[in-house]
Amino acid sequence: LIDDGLTLRGLRAGDRPAIASILAAVGVFRPEEIAIGLELVDETVNPGPSTDYRWVVAERLGALVGFACFGPVPLTDATYDLYWLAVAPAEQGRGVASRLEAAAAEAAAAAASGGRWLLAETSSMDGYAAARTFYEKFGYVQVGRIEDFYRVGDHKITYGKRLDRRRGE
Ligand SMILES: CC(C)(COP(=O)(O)OP(=O)(O)OC[C@H]1O[C@@H](n2cnc3c(N)ncnc32)[C@H](O)[C@@H]1OP(=O)(O)O)[C@@H](O)C(=O)NCCC(=O)NCCS
Repeated sequence: LIDDGLTLRGLRAGDRPAIASILAAVGVFRPEEIAIGLELVDETVNPGPSTDYRWVVAERLGALVGFACFGPVPLTDATYDLYWLAVAPAEQGRGVASRLEAAAAEAAAAAASGGRWLLAETSSMDGYAAARTFYEKFGYVQVGRIEDFYRVGDHKITYGKRLDRRRGE
């Protein structure tokens, strides 16, 4: 194990400003998407009866450098959604997202229900090329595509990874 000073932990209420600044700094999310991301923080901190969002936050030298938010998909017994994955621009390309994704996948797989799928929805736009390459590298396959989903010319691409099987099984 390489000690690169990166630590992983759960969400704290005080993380909201750092999460807001990462969501804005990565440059791919529209303002309304950033607002939804922050709503997930608020709902996690003040959960309603059916709230079930889980977070993995990465810190280096006490600074929040990335996060993943995931949770069980309602009305499924063991399917999980990776709702958000983002890393501060200055920290990208150093394996932070791979650590976050691995922790989320491990937690989903270890859930009482035994996670079966981990899904990640992304966009076909150029800004998401890093995300698409990332998912493909880490064992996700394209399981869905809806043309013009977000906007005309901006398709939804759903990546999925089985958590209950080895690849190719
Ligand atoms: C996608 C994202 C989370 C990756 O974070 P990261 O910490 O830089 O990723 P890692 O360093 O763990 O990268 C692991 C692998 O992903 C791929 N990857 C990451 N960034 C890439 C880029 N800019 N271009 C191409 N491939 C990339 C590579 O295969 C990389 O492996 P390598 O370093 O051995 O080449 C980050 O670019 C990001 O925050 N993007 C904006 C938000 C976003 O698109 N989120 C996901 C969709 S909601």
